[in-house]
Amino acid sequence: MKFMKKFELKGKNILVTGGAQGIGKCVAGILGECGANVGIIDLQADAAARTAEEIRVTHKVKVASFKCNVTDPDMVDKTIAAFSSYAGGLDAVFNNAGIVMHGAAENVSSEDWKRVMDVNINGVFYVARAAARQFIRENKKGSIVNTASMSGIIVNLPQCQAAYNTSKAAVIHLTKTLAVEWADKGIRVNSISPGYIRTEMTAAVREEWRKYWENIIPFKRMGTPEELAGAVIYLMSDASTYTTGLNMVIDGGFTCI
Ligand SMILES: NC(=O)c1ccc[n+]([C@@H]2O[C@H](COP(=O)([O-])OP(=O)(O)OC[C@H]3O[C@@H](n4cnc5c(N)ncnc54)[C@H](O)[C@@H]3O)[C@@H](O)[C@H]2O)c1
Repeated sequence: MKFMKKFELKGKNILVTGGAQGIGKCVAGILGECGANVGIIDLQADAAARTAEEIRVTHKVKVASFKCNVTDPDMVDKTIAAFSSYAGGLDAVFNNAGIVMHGAAENVSSEDWKRVMDVNINGVFYVARAAARQFIRENKKGSIVNTASMSGIIVNLPQCQAAYNTSKAAVIHLTKTLAVEWADKGIRVNSISPGYIRTEMTAAVREEWRKYWENIIPFKRMGTPEELAGAVIYLMSDASTYTTGLNMVIDGGFTCI
């Protein structure tokens, strides 16, 4: 086998959560370009269906979209089983759905705190657990790539986002824990930790915050979702068969300073 073939994802069946827009949408499209069959999971049913249609038309791969809330474990189990039966198995999951809420810690409501935790950590666990069960049923050495964040390592400024930062630190440690627990089953679990990336999520914040960030980032610019896709491809491919429990930081050098 020529070495570069190890990076190939052609014919693999890959689920992407939060795939209707932003990082998930972009990575799902690039996975389709790699020849993978793609399942899009999102709360936004219409946008997920549009993303799926674009990928199907452009890349001629099997694509299905599912309206699913990652905070509902039963729905997650059923959706992952449904994608697997549609595609003919499950090989990898980009466990990426997440939300952010800003506000000074002393003012954050209990409801907002719980909502961020529910999506960003409970949801990531429910999806990883359902995927692992599916891999075990199918006797597959599957790969899970969680989207954490540099906010799981550093504290962002000027915005306050205690729940988000805490949830992403938990994703990084959940990744390591599951990597160790499932190593004997051949299931690999890694995370990517993006820095500031231009998506709908960051477009919604104040312009002065974006200027503040760009001034500090060593590259003096935010990243694009495309700049994360290579890491996801690597971590899902046979080029990374000895890699598990890794948190790959992709942040334009932000956490170096
Ligand atoms: N954009 C950044 O700068 C940045 C940086 C670091 C990490 N991240 C992380 O990357 C991931 C994607 O971020 P993005 O910028 O593309 O955000 P985004 O808001 O553009 O997209 C997130 C997607 O997740 C979906 N989603 C939210 N809650 C859901 C739920 N309960 N069930 C199913 N789907 C749900 C949304 O509908 C949306 O389509 C998130 O986990 C985010 O925390 C983003």
